[in-house]
Amino acid sequence: MSFRTIEWRDNKVVMIDQTRLPGEEVYNEYDDFRSVAEAIKGMVIRGAPAIGVAAAMGVALGARDIIADTHESFFRQLDNVCDVLARTRPTAVNLFWAIQRMKRTAEAHKDKDLNSIRQILKAEAISIEQEDLQICRAIGRNGAALIREGATVLTHCNAGGLATAGYGTALGVIRAAHEAGKKIQVFADETRPWLQGARLTAWELLKEGIPVTLIADNMAGFFMKRGEIDCVVVGADRIAANGDTANKIGTYSVAVLARENRVPFYVAAPVSTLDLSLKNGDEIPIEERHAHEVTHLQGYPVAPEGIKVRNPAFDVTPAKYIAGIITEKGVVRGDFEKGLRALVGQ
Ligand code: MRU
Repeated sequence: MSFRTIEWRDNKVVMIDQTRLPGEEVYNEYDDFRSVAEAIKGMVIRGAPAIGVAAAMGVALGARDIIADTHESFFRQLDNVCDVLARTRPTAVNLFWAIQRMKRTAEAHKDKDLNSIRQILKAEAISIEQEDLQICRAIGRNGAALIREGATVLTHCNAGGLATAGYGTALGVIRAAHEAGKKIQVFADETRPWLQGARLTAWELLKEGIPVTLIADNMAGFFMKRGEIDCVVVGADRIAANGDTANKIGTYSVAVLARENRVPFYVAAPVSTLDLSLKNGDEIPIEERHAHEVTHLQGYPVAPEGIKVRNPAFDVTPAKYIAGIITEKGVVRGDFEKGLRALVGQ
């Protein structure tokens, strides 16, 4: 990959600033956990697995900076660091998964001295990042088998290298099919209001020479009806036990259109995106973001001042529309509840 989404470098966290793409490729350095939390909130880094990695690195920075005479004081302050990071974005479960993993790691080593615990947390955050890259490659391998030679694949939002430690989930499947020489092409929904498709998916696919065509969100049905789309692959922010999947707003509409036009609709996600504690998608918390994202385009007003606005950032696609959930451990189809539980041995 020709860019790094996030890395731990010289005791700082370095992230590509996704608010400035595609115009400028700028890398920001973060030296304390509060600024990492602000970066997650402000979408400098976004995408479920990537914000998990960022939160883990935030915990490691926070642990490094805690001043404590006792373990009790250290662990109390570490809880506070975790709480601040957990309050950044509510929908993607990978954020909470990563924070929990960091907490459990600290707990498991609570008998060691504080400096050792700090070092162990730093190593754990780096492992989460490196594992994510391997997991995305495995998702890619498992999903590429579903993409036929010469296919046109529609994707929504950005579930690419920018949304993970690298390689991507939905775009991991696309990358792997491309690397296998399948001569595929991608249709990228622009993904209003934040334009992850236009600004990020188009940018990373172009950069890698994977053929990509940008369309406005309301054009997907047009191309499906004309038989120009062979399948849809999207990422996920949280998958409930029955397979209902939260992903970027607009995903649900794409899934319904896909069903109507007999186009298979796949979700690609790591096992860390599963939330089997939730029975179905109604229980997934949905983030609502600032009205400004809807009323303005790159700072330019496109709606009358004072207009009432709703801006949910995610929607839930019912499991019945999903042809398969592609994970690093295999593809689950049919009875999702049974298949997803079997994947994680629950
Ligand atoms: O608001 P965002 O940009 O964080 O939303 C991202 C998505 O909805 C992605 O599709 C999802 O996180 C999967 S990323 C591999």
